[in-house]
Amino acid sequence: MSLLMQQHFSQTYIEKYLNNIYNYVLDTIEDEENLCNLLNLDYTNNNQNVDYSNILTQGIYLLRYAYAYIFEYKLMYTELLDMYEKNNINILSIGCGTCIDFDALLLLKDKLNKRFTKGLTYTGIDPVCWNDNLKHKYFTTDKKSKLNCIQSNLEDYCNNKDITKLIDVLVFPKSISEIY
Ligand SMILES: C[S@@+](CC[C@H](N)C(=O)[O-])C[C@H]1O[C@@H](n2cnc3c(N)ncnc32)[C@H](O)[C@@H]1O
Repeated sequence: MSLLMQQHFSQTYIEKYLNNIYNYVLDTIEDEENLCNLLNLDYTNNNQNVDYSNILTQGIYLLRYAYAYIFEYKLMYTELLDMYEKNNINILSIGCGTCIDFDALLLLKDKLNKRFTKGLTYTGIDPVCWNDNLKHKYFTTDKKSKLNCIQSNLEDYCNNKDITKLIDVLVFPKSISEIY
């Protein structure tokens, strides 16, 4: 791990988080009869054919990308905080998956508490229900941060709502090219 990455992460959270996913994937693989289905798994090239509803597809995706993405999202939110002036914030994360970008926000908890004295609300939407066992057990929330996770696609969620009036920041965390 590079020095830069060490500075940005609390290793304990990330290690526990990835170990949990790793163990879950191992257990699931033992029960899986048709591992050949994974042969064609390809997350690259904006592949809209990835079946994110499959638990192994989710777990392998997270083992492959979560570590790097938390790092990226943490930097993204750090820059955002520097540009944003209000003392409360409503974030809508579209295609949130396991809400890795929320986990990244929690790594900035001390900074957030000082900045968002009136609170922070994060709403993540995704049509796929990502497995609870692969979610943020090791990232601690606090009273001021509110997490809503909603199973919905963008179109249904926006139906009859002017989200520009409700939301301060729209995030497409690695999802914009995969929205269907
Ligand atoms: C590459 S994954 C990204 C997951 C996560 N945000 C991350 O940081 O790793 C793309 C996600 O977009 C979701 N997605 C696809 N179409 C969508 C839609 N119409 N509305 C909301 N989410 C959608 C998929 O279900 C998938 O979970």
